[in-house]
Amino acid sequence: MLLRSAVDQAATSVDRGFDRTRIEEAFLGTLGFSGWQLGNASAVLAEEAGIVGAPTTRVENACASAGFALRAGVHAIASGARDVVLVAGLEKMTDPTNSRRRYWLGVSGDTEWERLAGLTFAGVYGLMADHYLAQHHVPREALAAVAVKNHAHGARNPNAQFQKEITLQQVLEAPKVADPLGLLDCCPVTDGAAAVLLAGEEIAKSFTDTPVIIAGEGAGSDTLALQERAELTQLGATRRAAAEAFRRADVDRARIQFLEVHDCFSIAELLALEDLGFAGPGEAAALTLSGATRIGGRLPVNASGGLKAKGHPIGATGAGQAYEAFHQIRGTADKRQVAGAEWGLSHNVGGSGASATVTIYRRG
Ligand code: COA
Repeated sequence: MLLRSAVDQAATSVDRGFDRTRIEEAFLGTLGFSGWQLGNASAVLAEEAGIVGAPTTRVENACASAGFALRAGVHAIASGARDVVLVAGLEKMTDPTNSRRRYWLGVSGDTEWERLAGLTFAGVYGLMADHYLAQHHVPREALAAVAVKNHAHGARNPNAQFQKEITLQQVLEAPKVADPLGLLDCCPVTDGAAAVLLAGEEIAKSFTDTPVIIAGEGAGSDTLALQERAELTQLGATRRAAAEAFRRADVDRARIQFLEVHDCFSIAELLALEDLGFAGPGEAAALTLSGATRIGGRLPVNASGGLKAKGHPIGATGAGQAYEAFHQIRGTADKRQVAGAEWGLSHNVGGSGASATVTIYRRG
């Protein structure tokens, strides 16, 4: 039902001349949380989208599943193999019990040392946060400021899981999950789906006068386990993905007007700003505390509420970010609209950084 409603929304956002028989291929991002459909999951997308007969493929790269599904769709169009492609993501995280949920989150982590040490994803990001604060002499408030901002943005988004503002004090006093991260530094457990229609530029222009162009995309990988990495507070996969996306889009960072970044934990947003090249090492903290990353600031980040407040339905998140970029650039983001948005970027990370995608969008 979640998936069908996302696909229906995507189809109705096309202005003219489109029907589902135009979809030639589809890619579904899902971890398959709780085993809702362990095998052949992409067949569910074909049925929900009403395109049985078209080839469908499941893409699984943990939290970056839909980012990589989007990439597969972009490549299918760019190669000339397909004219119209559907990309979607789905996760249903609330079905299992708490302990089963921990198991399902754990399957994407390092199964050797990290699991042996009892580390959850909050634990892994807690280690990164701890190191970041010490390495750059940054106050704990900088992490909290990310959560406060993203909840303020989520309060403007009718699709957000949390539509309530929170204060710095509440973040600092929330129960600890993995020191220094507390409950309000974490993304929640979410059920959700998102869908995106991709078409070649000329065909897109026959469907609408206001297409959004994918100007460039990139992807990268890194070691699965944190202890194998040279640096705890840099995500090599994001750096590689960003370099490739900016090279393909042939655009300066100064032209990017909004970012949807992978803030699964508050520290992740600070690292993303630095790895994407919008702040130097340790500088994302001051940027965030200055208010520059709020809607109305110099570089709004996660106007949707981000994973923190919009929610993080693992395999759907990358498609949800593309949905947000689409609405921002079309000027249909209502109360969370970034004024005059023409260029934007989304960033999707798998687990603690084993994989990442970066996508750059511009007005058509
Ligand atoms: N942010 C804000 N509020 C949250 C929240 C979050 N992340 N998680 C839960 N809450 C709220 C609930 O809405 C609930 O509020 P209520 O009492 O007003 O109804 C309350 O906190 C308790 O909710 P509960 O579901 O019992 O929390 P929990 O302790 O079982 O789970 C976390 C909290 C942080 C452990 C859980 O959200 C989590 O595991 N998050 C991370 C998910 C993850 O790792 N994803 C992959 C990232 S790579």
